[in-house]
Parts: sequence; C-alpha cells; structure tokens
Amino acid sequence: MLDQLKEIERTGLDTLQAIQNEDALEVWRITHLGRSSALMQVFSGLGQLSKDDKPVVGHRANEVKRALESAFAVRSGEIRQAALKHSLEQEQLDVTLPGRSLPLGRLHPDTQTLRELYHVFGEMGFQVYRSREVESDEYNFQLLNFTVGHPARDMQDTYFVEAGGRGENPIILRTHTSPGQIHAMRWLSAKDPENPPPVRIILPGMCYRYEQVTNRHETQFDQLEGLAVGLGITFSDLKGTLADFTRRMFGQDTRTRFRASYFPFTEPSAEFDVECFLCGGKGCAVCKGSGWLEIGGCGMVHPVVLRNGGYDPERYSGFAFGLGPQRMAMLRHHIEDIRYFWQNDLRFLEQF
Ligand code: FA5
Repeated sequence: MLDQLKEIERTGLDTLQAIQNEDALEVWRITHLGRSSALMQVFSGLGQLSKDDKPVVGHRANEVKRALESAFAVRSGEIRQAALKHSLEQEQLDVTLPGRSLPLGRLHPDTQTLRELYHVFGEMGFQVYRSREVESDEYNFQLLNFTVGHPARDMQDTYFVEAGGRGENPIILRTHTSPGQIHAMRWLSAKDPENPPPVRIILPGMCYRYEQVTNRHETQFDQLEGLAVGLGITFSDLKGTLADFTRRMFGQDTRTRFRASYFPFTEPSAEFDVECFLCGGKGCAVCKGSGWLEIGGCGMVHPVVLRNGGYDPERYSGFAFGLGPQRMAMLRHHIEDIRYFWQNDLRFLEQF
C-alpha cells in the first residue's frame, strides 16, 4: 500500500507540472483527487487493513493528499497568472488606432444671434448691461411712463409672480427689457447725481408675455434693448446708429426705414424696418411682398423716463431701441416657426 501511495504521489506531481491550462487542470483534479481517484480508493480500503497497518497507511495517505492539494493550488495560481499575462500582452492598447469621435456640441441659434449682436454693438461702443427678469410693476411699467391702467399695457399681457397683496405694484416677469433702462440709469446717475455720466449700453435677455402662441409669438422670447443718453443726442444719432448696425449685421447695401409709432417711454417713437435681404426689396413671401422687414421699435427717451433714471431732461437727451433677436434669426435662416427655438429638438438644433 505504501508503495502504491508513493506511486500515486509521484504520478500526480509529475503530470501536474505538464499541465498548461485551466481545463486540463480540472481534469487532473478529478483524476487525482476526485471520488474515484486511486488515492480515494486507498482511503476507502483502509477498513480492510490490519490494526497495525491502518494508522501508518492512513497517515501516509493523508500526507499524499495534502501534498497533491497544495501542489494543485500552486499550479492553479501559476496557470491563472500566465493566462492574465498572456491576455494583457495580446490586448495591449493600440494608441495608433483612430479614436471614436464624440458628437460636438454647438451654440443654440438664439445664442449665436445674440453673440453676433454683442459683437456688432461692441464695435460701435456699446457695453452689455444685464438686468433682472423678475420685476416690479413700477419698473416694468410705471417708471417707463405706463401709468396704472394705461391702455398700452394691453399690448404686454403679464405673468404675475405673486397672487396679490402689493396693491398697484405687483411682482411680475418682465414683459420687455426696457425696465433695465431705469436700473442702468439709476445705477450710473447715483455715481455722480449732479453730472451723471453718459450711457451707451445694450440690454439683452428673456422676456415673458401671456401671449397666444403662434408661429411668430412665444410666451418667452429674447429682446435686445439699446440705450444711449448724453448731451446733445438727437433722432439723427438714433437713425445713424441703427442704419450702421443693419449694414454691419445684414450687409453694406442694406437700407433702413422708420415708420411713426407709439411707445409710452419714447417720444417721438418709430418702428424700424430693414430692406428685405432675401429679395433685395423686390418683394417676396418672407416680406409679404412689401420689400421691408420689421426689426424692432425705437425712439427718443421720454423726458419722464430720463427724470426717473436720474438724468435731467433739460440737459440730457437719449435714444432707445428694442430688437427681437429670434425674429432676426428666423429671417436669416428661413425658420418658419418661433416654437422650434425652445423645443430642444436635435433635428432643428443640429442645423446651426
Ligand atoms: C417693446 O417691447 C419695446 N420695449 C421696444 C422698445 C424699446 C421700443 C426701446 C422703443 C424703445 P414690442 O412689444 O414691439 O416693443 O417688442 C419688441 C420686439 O420684441 C418685437 O419687434 C419682436 O421682435 C419681439 N417680440 C415681442 N413680443 C414677442 C413674442 N411674443 N414672441 C417673440 N418675439 C416677440
């Protein structure tokens, strides 16, 4: 029996060294340590041995079992290591392969238009002034010469932020960027109330109106306001500034025209059109045959507004204008519906 155990140990250890992979290792384990292995048969035959032989053979059989088990554990570790090394060598990162390209983000068409406007007005000496979107009735209307109950308020149906309780000065979402005129003038005139500095700013941002949504009207839209206040500013400065702006924005040959209009905060007031840059003024579907496209409103700052901003209307004068950047983007890119802007549809956004 002891000779047989010696043979079992020797063959077991010898064959184990030749094994190179995990499948063969499992076959080895079943053959040499499994239930039907020669070693296990020695254990099963122990009962038939004499009282003297039994402990000797049993002890030796256990020694062989431990030796085979620990050799198996070592070999199994070696094989796993070798497999890992092999796979690391085979699957090395090939840095020369072309990378997977990620889809590039881009600016929203409205942001693109706004940035172009900042650039054009920046070249003309205007700075950006950012004003709040949540306003009081006082700033949005009253200080701009829309008295309480003024009929011109009907043009700007308003969202209220609170249910009530502030009488005639509720908190609202601004319906236009014009209240920023008062904030900017008050901020600047506070620096030197006797001699307030000149103003030359643009005020961009979101406005909100409780509108019937159509292809040209949204409840949320951008405006870009312009304000210039100083000594001796006249309507011809306004015309010159807007004419220069349209040439820079839409091309050197673009013509402009002004039509009399009404805003409570400017006097005189005008609507301001550019010659249709799609048909060159001949008349097309976009300009509805007129040859002109409406771009925004404008006028000379009303004396009441100047005074509310801290500027003495006897000494100072100024002009203001309000443009619709989204309407400009629509004209330029032939976008037929303003609702596309905030729908977040990639099929629309990816075109810009
Ligand atoms: C105003 O809001 C005046 N505050 C503009 C102004 C400023 C006049 C300074 C004089 C001096 P109006 O309501 O026309 O005016 O709006 C100006 C521009 O905002 C419009 O020409 C249009 O381009 C845009 N706009 C107005 N309402 C909407 C709307 N519901 N959806 C999209 N754009 C709009």
